[in-house]
Amino acid sequence: MSEAPASAAQPTKKSMDAIMALCKRRGFIYQASEIYGGINGFWDYGPLGAQLKKNLRDAWWQDMILNPCWGRKGPNGSRVRCVPLETCIIQHPKVWEASGHVGGFNDPMVDCKESKGRYRYDHVQVFVPETGDAGDKPVFAYVGDQPSEAKQRKKAEKLFGVIKSVALSSIPQPWARVIGPDAEKPGTLTEPRMFNLMFDTIPGAIRDEANKAYLRPETAQGVFVNFKNVVDTTRVKLPFGIGNTGRSFRNEVTPRNFTFRSREFEQAELEFFCHPDESVEWYKFWRDFRMDWWKAIGLAGENLILREHDKDELSHYSQGTSDVEYRFPFTAPGFGELEGIAHRGNYDLTQHENTSRTKLKYFDAERGELLPNGSRKGEWYIPHCIEPAAGLDRGALALICEGYTRDESRPSPEFLKLHPRVAPIKAAVFPLVAKDGMPEVGEKLYDELFAKFGNRGFIEFDEKQSIGKRYARMDEAGCPFCFTIDGDTLTNQTVTVRDRDSGQQERIGIDKVSGFLGEKLG
Ligand code: GAP
Repeated sequence: MSEAPASAAQPTKKSMDAIMALCKRRGFIYQASEIYGGINGFWDYGPLGAQLKKNLRDAWWQDMILNPCWGRKGPNGSRVRCVPLETCIIQHPKVWEASGHVGGFNDPMVDCKESKGRYRYDHVQVFVPETGDAGDKPVFAYVGDQPSEAKQRKKAEKLFGVIKSVALSSIPQPWARVIGPDAEKPGTLTEPRMFNLMFDTIPGAIRDEANKAYLRPETAQGVFVNFKNVVDTTRVKLPFGIGNTGRSFRNEVTPRNFTFRSREFEQAELEFFCHPDESVEWYKFWRDFRMDWWKAIGLAGENLILREHDKDELSHYSQGTSDVEYRFPFTAPGFGELEGIAHRGNYDLTQHENTSRTKLKYFDAERGELLPNGSRKGEWYIPHCIEPAAGLDRGALALICEGYTRDESRPSPEFLKLHPRVAPIKAAVFPLVAKDGMPEVGEKLYDELFAKFGNRGFIEFDEKQSIGKRYARMDEAGCPFCFTIDGDTLTNQTVTVRDRDSGQQERIGIDKVSGFLGEKLG
């Protein structure tokens, strides 16, 4: 998580407890296996959450695969071309050796012998006196956003007065004086050791370590190992992208912050292949487009930033990485990563070519020396890859956090300002009262909207309870528009449209409703 730029305005912090309560109450997100007490790091999506995530996935698919970059031209002056792929969660174990995940996908962790808690070594902080030395006094460890931070801070302040926070690694080992985040006694934290984040499993009947395979920690490698298949079996020509969405698994040491750091999550990744000479231009192109995309689906405010990694943050093979980051309530005033856009060079294809001994070089017939007959000699090379890698769970969470609004002046103060494109409920039709012919007119309108927009999300019909309660229910679910049939509808064929965000109503002809909604949904 990164710090806020000094200039960034910092609006009032939203309550994560309130957001999580709304997610549960309205069927967006549930704890997985809740009736058994839940399972740490796993979340299920309820009816509205599942549709929200599908809308987000569909928007990504539409704007990255079917009509990449909204038809914008790339740095080569042509339309961007992409194709989809769907690959397995379990691949040959050598895939993960070649990619570097078996050897290097590790987090350093420390265990607490007393509380049995496990913490990322690089996330553990310790409170020490602001000036001078703690001597032989205990120092209190905490992990940034865990509830024990406030508790530990109080204890440290009692002991030292003015305190500051430092990394655990700056405390001389063996930390005999450190009291772990959930412990009472000092000296219970173990030495850090590397912990591989991949889940493993044994396919087949013989439960032998030699048959060990892994659940993918990223969808990207499925694309790299199919690069040759796609080139050989389709008519793609460089530059082009291969995109996919799907579940990935990481045995995170400390899953937390609702769905932000989960052990099972969904990614939407594009691997865009191009000539090495054009790769930096493509990297900049994708970085900028991805920022524009997140803005266009509802994160246009000051909570979204693009952060270019410093040179010392880059992987050894990377020539550039930027993160699209969102200021979640639990990271504020800092930001958390939504998507990484990485220039991966030719690292992955080279690794797979060397490990599999399969030629993954690409023959580019449009490059190389100009021949007397006017054609080109062609050039063999391993393409470079630009990778915009988004997380759909973090995306859905950012949309919910951004949309969550409290306005005490409204009869029902909580509502969810979701962009109409991703909102799970697109519209609601309400007969003001369940009599006088209003339900019949409403049902007709409902049928019309359902036929036209029912493939994009839910259309609701509700004639029970007061109209205020029905509006409030739709507001919390993030439904952008409610159409109400009232007495006037029966005489002049107009309905009211209520706008979720302003609460304002206007009248439009019942025959204009479909066009109105179509325009708003985009
Ligand atoms: N192929 C590159 C790659 O996987 P990453 O930055 O590790 O890059 C991409 O992951 C995105 O996947 C992140 O920006 C984030 O949105 C999402 N992601 C990663 N780990 C996650 C986790 N434990 N829980 C939820 N989302 C996660």
